[in-house]
Amino acid sequence: MQTLHTIAELRSALAAAGPCAFVPTMGNLHEGHLALIRQAGAHKLPVVASIFVNRLQFAPHEDFDRYPRTLAQDCDKLQAAGCDLVFAPDEAEMYPQPQGYKVHPEPALADILEGHFRPGFFVGVATIVMKLFGCVQPRVAIFGKKDYQQLLVLRRLVSQFNLPITVEGGETTRADDGLALSSRNGYLDAAQRSEAVALSRALRALADGARDGAQPLDVLEAQALVELTGRGWAPDYLTVRCRDTLLAPTDAQRGGPLVALGAARIGGTRLIDNLEF
Ligand code: PAF
Repeated sequence: MQTLHTIAELRSALAAAGPCAFVPTMGNLHEGHLALIRQAGAHKLPVVASIFVNRLQFAPHEDFDRYPRTLAQDCDKLQAAGCDLVFAPDEAEMYPQPQGYKVHPEPALADILEGHFRPGFFVGVATIVMKLFGCVQPRVAIFGKKDYQQLLVLRRLVSQFNLPITVEGGETTRADDGLALSSRNGYLDAAQRSEAVALSRALRALADGARDGAQPLDVLEAQALVELTGRGWAPDYLTVRCRDTLLAPTDAQRGGPLVALGAARIGGTRLIDNLEF
């Protein structure tokens, strides 16, 4: 496995290797990322991963500075998972000048849910992913479904800019108790870690209630918020949406396909999760 730090090195390696399957990451890799690498490997193309903690998608009060940088360990894990090439640029390589041109995803999809609570987040994500696509020019790009809204935003980016890339979602990898794996789980202390599974359980209860159909969705959502708040969480949202638009389902759409999505803070750590049903 090669680890390259400049766009020039990357381009010359890719010119020799040919079209690739690409997994963009911010590093601090866990089993969920490695599952995406193995999914990329199934395409029988060279597998490229990027590791870049993208300042542009963090608000000033967020965890950019303390986000774990673990390049050596990440490279060991990527190699074991079958990755062929790691692109790990520094900030000067990706942002040699202040980024004056940015990708603004459509507000109806990107200014709700995560975009509402993290203004500018999807502009930062879409801009770096567009830049990474320009560097890597993959045939296939794989993003985890744990960041469900991100996956939809990036699918639409590829479709609206006619990029010759197939976007695939990777299933969420979970710990034995059901907690979705996330780099931010490492911020949790032992008590928070054992409580953390309550988020996925709340989404399961919300999905079950929605499927049951006995109560309106807004009542179920309000109950879920009250319950999680009562356990000491600070939820941003717990909601049921249509899977492909993230709009609230009409009565006729309550049969699905739907997704329950949630974001909530436990202590200082903000976790997100979702459940398709
Ligand atoms: O999901 C992530 O890790 C990031 O948002 C991504 C897609 C690598 C862009 O920085």
